[in-house]
Amino acid sequence: MQIKQAAGALGAFISDLDLTRVVEADADLNTLRQAVHDYQVVFLPDQQVSPQVFQTCARGFGEVLGHGAYGTVEGAPDVQVLESTPEAPSKIEVWHSDMTFSTTPPMYTLLHSQVIPAYGGDTLWASAAAAYEQLSEPMRAFCDELVAVHDFRHGFAESLAEPGGAERLADAIAANPPVEHPLVRTHPHTGRKCLYVNALFTTHIKDMSPLESRQILDFLYRHIVTAEFTVRLDWQEQMVAIWDNCSTQHKPVNDFFPQHRKLHRVTIKGQRPA
Ligand code: SIN
Repeated sequence: MQIKQAAGALGAFISDLDLTRVVEADADLNTLRQAVHDYQVVFLPDQQVSPQVFQTCARGFGEVLGHGAYGTVEGAPDVQVLESTPEAPSKIEVWHSDMTFSTTPPMYTLLHSQVIPAYGGDTLWASAAAAYEQLSEPMRAFCDELVAVHDFRHGFAESLAEPGGAERLADAIAANPPVEHPLVRTHPHTGRKCLYVNALFTTHIKDMSPLESRQILDFLYRHIVTAEFTVRLDWQEQMVAIWDNCSTQHKPVNDFFPQHRKLHRVTIKGQRPA
């Protein structure tokens, strides 16, 4: 396996690793998982694998977490389909860590590109660990004590407002009441502290006035996406990206409309943030 760092704070390209081999060899899976912890997000070009092989590889990372809002691939029920077409453009716009509305949000997410537009449609990741470490000491101490509330309904407000949206998402809403997570969580494998609030799912900081909460969250959201804490992926077809949701946030760049873009995704369950 060859690893080439992609940016200063996070990200690496991994070559000479075939996902079909990872499915068969524990040693390769362990090395890949370690690379995800070391670099927070890794990119594997040229992975011509079926959804079934992608699913098996993803299962090697842990228990799969389903998502009530997305359809799945026939014959590979753990693989969600993220598709943007002229008729149904992507609604994922905002920086986030996946599914923080859950009590046990995913530790890892894997994407496998299927259809990539001729231009645009990159994905950005930011290191919430680097962002925490670059805060001043008094600000770190202040953030260490805070608790934030995350809500599925906040992230899916646009879909809920559509005709039939509330009915379509009723089960997901019932299964995901608002949850509290520490604003700073400690990575269960690396021990690094990470800012754990995001613009998509975090509604407010507990025990603060709405103005205090809004101002602090706005500052943190801006700080986390400082250019020096980010990496940008120019997708090629049949590429796999694997990231750590504890220490990163991400967002797609929606500059490719009306072109078609399609990715397969699997999310892997994590522990309760602490
Ligand atoms: C996601 O937010 O999981 C998808 C990112 C992307 O579409 O690039």
